[in-house]
Amino acid sequence: MIPNLISGIQPSGRLHLGNYLGALKNFVELQSSEQYNCYFFIADLHSLTEDYDPAQKTNQILDLLASYVAVGLNPKKSTIFIQSQIPAHTQLAWILNTIAPFGELSRMTQFKDKSKVQSENINVGLFTYPVLMAADIILYDANFVPVGEDQIQHLELARTLVRKFNSRFGDEFVEPQSLVTKTARVMSLQDPNQKMSKSQPDGCLFMDDSPEEVERKIMSAVTDSEKEVRYDVQSKAGLSNLLGIYASLSNKEIAEIESEFKNKNYAKFKKSLAKIITKHFAPFRRKKDKLLANQNKLIKTAQRGNKIANKIAGEKILKVEKRLGLML
Ligand code: TRP
Repeated sequence: MIPNLISGIQPSGRLHLGNYLGALKNFVELQSSEQYNCYFFIADLHSLTEDYDPAQKTNQILDLLASYVAVGLNPKKSTIFIQSQIPAHTQLAWILNTIAPFGELSRMTQFKDKSKVQSENINVGLFTYPVLMAADIILYDANFVPVGEDQIQHLELARTLVRKFNSRFGDEFVEPQSLVTKTARVMSLQDPNQKMSKSQPDGCLFMDDSPEEVERKIMSAVTDSEKEVRYDVQSKAGLSNLLGIYASLSNKEIAEIESEFKNKNYAKFKKSLAKIITKHFAPFRRKKDKLLANQNKLIKTAQRGNKIANKIAGEKILKVEKRLGLML
C-alpha cells in the first residue's frame, strides 16, 4: 500500500519565502512524486494559541487555502482540509492529553520560546500544542510528516504517544516519521543573522509581493562593503543569503551564479535576483488572486476535503473510543 503523508501550516498571516522554500515547495514535490497518499491541512486550531484578531481569522484561513491551491497543491490529488472542521482532532487530542507526560511537554523548546515571546499569553493550548499536533497526524495513519527542523521534537512526542497508546490499549496507531526539509534557512534581508519573519516586513519577501515591492526589498537588502559576488556565510552573510535564494529559485548551483556575476556589481546581481523572484511567483500571484475572487468556490473545495477527512478521522476516533471502553 502507498504510504500516507500529512502536513499542515498555521493560518496566521501572509506566507513568505521561508514558508515557500521550507514547506510549500516541498509539499508540491511530494504530491507530484505520486509516492504518497497526501493530506495537507490548515492548522487553524493551532493558530489560536497565538495572539490573534477574530475579525481576521476567516480571511487568514481563506488566504492560506488559496495559497495552497495556487502554489500547486491539487485537491484532486491531495486531501486538503481545515483542521477545526474535523471534530476528531480535538477529540483525540483530549484522549492523548491523558497519556501525555507532563514533564516531556514542559521540555518542548517551542513552548519555552513562545512563552518568552508572548509572556502575557502563556495559555494551556500553547502547552498542549504538540498533543493536538500528534492527533492531527496519527488520526490518518500517517507514515511521513514533512516538517522543518523546529518540529522534530514534536514528532518525537507523537511517536512516544503512539507507543504508549498501542502498548496500553492495543495496536491502533502508526508511528509517524518526519521528513525534514533540507533547504538552507532563509534569513531576513535586513538582518541576515535572523530568520526571515513576517514580524520584520522589510526584511521579508512575501510570496504575493508585487514586483515593485520585491525590487524595493531586494535592492535595499543588507550586504557588505566588498564588491565580489561570492558565497561566504561568515564574512558575507547578507550576500550569501541572497545567493541561496537565487540558487533555490533558479535551480542553479551557487558556483554557477558566482561565475555569472564575476566582475559585475551587487546592483546588477540584485536586479537579476528581483527579476527571478518576480517571475517565479507571477503565476502564483495570478492564480491566488483568481481563487480569492471566487470565495464560494474556494470554500466548496475545502468542504470536499473536509468531508473526506471527516470520514477517515471519524472512523478512527470510534475505534479509539472502543479501545478505551467509552463506546456503549
Ligand atoms: N506545528 C506545525 C508548524 O508550526 C504546524 C502543524 C500543526 C503540523 N499540526 C501539524 C505540521 C501536523 C505537520 C503535521 O509548522
